[in-house]
Amino acid sequence: MDKKIAFIGGGRMGESLIKGVLESKLCNKNNISVSDTSAERLDSLKKSYGLKTFSDNREMIAEADIIILCVKPQVIDKVLENIADMCGLNKLIISIAAGITIAAIKNRLPGEKGRVIRVMPNTPAMIGEGMSAISGSQGVTDEDMSKAMAIFGAVGKTVVVKEEMMDAVTGLSGSGPAFIYMVIESMADAGVKLGLARDVANILAAQTVKGAAEMALNSGKHIGELRDMVTSPGGTTIAGLDALEKKGLREAMMSAVEEAAKRSMELGKRDK
Ligand SMILES: NC(=O)c1ccc[n+]([C@@H]2O[C@H](COP(=O)([O-])OP(=O)(O)OC[C@H]3O[C@@H](n4cnc5c(N)ncnc54)[C@H](OP(=O)(O)O)[C@@H]3O)[C@@H](O)[C@H]2O)c1
Repeated sequence: MDKKIAFIGGGRMGESLIKGVLESKLCNKNNISVSDTSAERLDSLKKSYGLKTFSDNREMIAEADIIILCVKPQVIDKVLENIADMCGLNKLIISIAAGITIAAIKNRLPGEKGRVIRVMPNTPAMIGEGMSAISGSQGVTDEDMSKAMAIFGAVGKTVVVKEEMMDAVTGLSGSGPAFIYMVIESMADAGVKLGLARDVANILAAQTVKGAAEMALNSGKHIGELRDMVTSPGGTTIAGLDALEKKGLREAMMSAVEEAAKRSMELGKRDK
């Protein structure tokens, strides 16, 4: 990509994206710049990736074609207030701030216009296995969407969704890693209860989740069919599945995603 990308905020997500686009060779480091409030952080990013770093957002974005907002939702207002007059239609703005709507961003831009894309990534982006949902808006071109998909594709998989689905995405893939950590932890605890050493139980549980996820993603088989492949008549797996049904795992997981989505909706309303 020959566009100049400016990352505002070089924290966990900002750094993950920078690392991803550089490692995938999507962008040359000369086309990437990053700003942050912490001089120490900028120093570390400069040392690790050889990037141009800035403490002044306005100075950084002057030359940028794409601005990626990687700051916390609480500081988005302050950041936009400072740079709004420089964010004309010649710049593509991509925000990953959870719960901040495209309308809220556009409202802070001159003439309430702008090429704005909203993305909801998740923490496995830090190891290149993220899941990002991307929403465009009026004024965003197909080329803009392709660019966003390429950038977030460098840290995992991407899907395009309507913005009204962002709360559902937040509840599922945004909060989802925490739900799965709890699954891994409880499977490993069961292993320990049955006499396995903790480190052995942890790897058995985590690799089982990873392997099952890879099968679900790549085998081309329906998830029910994959489950049937492990479940022989009168065997061990059906006994375990029966216990999970009786204890309500399916319902518990559906409620977890729904409650997280509901909370995302509430927080979005409050932060408007
Ligand atoms: N982490 C996730 O799983 C995840 C998932 C989806 C979406 N997101 C979104 O991603 C965004 C970033 O999250 P994060 O976890 O990467 O946060 P983070 O680690 O706190 O990174 C944000 C960085 O921005 C810096 N910053 C603050 N004000 C700034 C300003 N005015 N100009 C430039 N930089 C500034 C912060 O510096 P200081 O620390 O000095 O304030 C910090 O280094 C959030 O909006 C979050 O909602 C995160």
